[in-house]
Amino acid sequence: MTTETPTASRRRASFHSLTVAEVRRLTEDAIEVTFTVPAELAGQYDYLPGQYVALRTTLPDESGEPHEVRRSYSICAEPRSFEDGSSEIRVAIKKDLGGIFSTWANAELQAGDTLDVMSPQGAFISKHGKDGSTVQHNVMNSMNHPEQLAGEAGSFVAIAAGSGITPVIAIARTLLAANPDTRFDLIYANKAAMDVMFLEELADLKDKYPSRLALHHVLSREQRIAPLMTGRIDAEKLQALLSSAIHSEDVDEWFLCGPFELVQLCRDTLAERGVKPENVRFELFTTGRPDRPEGHAGRPVVEDESQDTYKITFKLDGLQGDVTSPTHARESILNAALRVRPDVPFACAGGVCGTCRAKVVSGTVTMDENYALEQDELDKGYVLTCQAHPTSESVTLDFDV
Ligand code: FES
Repeated sequence: MTTETPTASRRRASFHSLTVAEVRRLTEDAIEVTFTVPAELAGQYDYLPGQYVALRTTLPDESGEPHEVRRSYSICAEPRSFEDGSSEIRVAIKKDLGGIFSTWANAELQAGDTLDVMSPQGAFISKHGKDGSTVQHNVMNSMNHPEQLAGEAGSFVAIAAGSGITPVIAIARTLLAANPDTRFDLIYANKAAMDVMFLEELADLKDKYPSRLALHHVLSREQRIAPLMTGRIDAEKLQALLSSAIHSEDVDEWFLCGPFELVQLCRDTLAERGVKPENVRFELFTTGRPDRPEGHAGRPVVEDESQDTYKITFKLDGLQGDVTSPTHARESILNAALRVRPDVPFACAGGVCGTCRAKVVSGTVTMDENYALEQDELDKGYVLTCQAHPTSESVTLDFDV
């Protein structure tokens, strides 16, 4: 199996203003937003099922001051293009408690509005296939004809919670369409039936593939006929689900998407059951906290000539940038870099999405959190700049590789 990553999964991120074509309500507190991608930008917005986009706009903060807000949302539909060369991107936005952007979008966003949309990113994609990316490449070549995909047959399981279904539904549709012998099991956890996103779409998918798609809805606050499908997914319930609802020994690839605790529980449990980590893909919800770590917009750091500083040099879009950072500030490389280049790519600023990835060319750094980079990327010297701090006097990074 090659480790080659499909092109669209590691493209450099850039923002364009896209028009909202439709806003569709999914549940009381979730909407699906469709953006039109004009033909001239279609090449920059092709994507693989499971990827996400960051959205950017300016909203008033608590003091009423305009404030740039970025949030990442998974793409919830398989790729499509139209005769005129245009295409579309669909994302689902669930209202987070206290979330500035998601609350605003659920209340205000409507067709005809424009938002800055980052080109799709992310590595939560299937790697199953002869060369590790067969299905993915075929998706790119068969945008409107999923029945023409020629992916290898496989057995896949996804465990999703709440809006974690968003990338999973795009992956499930694509993999099921790619081979008539593929099987997909979905364990989907929600509080109650009214919170289930894409309920109708999942039922339609089940109608389309009655013997190949198994849906296991688990509701934590509603009684279901089977006790196994009622209550929170804890270690005991997960073991029971894996033992009775899923033939876990035959699974080729696992997809986990939800809050940190659930994803971590699933990863630990699968490891205990002997599942190889290379067959497990996971995506964490971002923190949902709008002003989490510095790096949000280049937090001001006061420099003083008497202080020791780190020298940070970086390459972005072929241009070199230089910035210094006081050692006592312990700011992230992203935060420092944003002072001199506001176009440095980032989305979550929490070590989750991987958008801020760069390669360390010289010097050394340390990272706080990493939920996005895999071991082979770390071995090659890639870091998440939103989590990285210099540990040598000078450090050089490259965002372009
Ligand atoms: S911006 Fe998301 S991991 Fe750094």
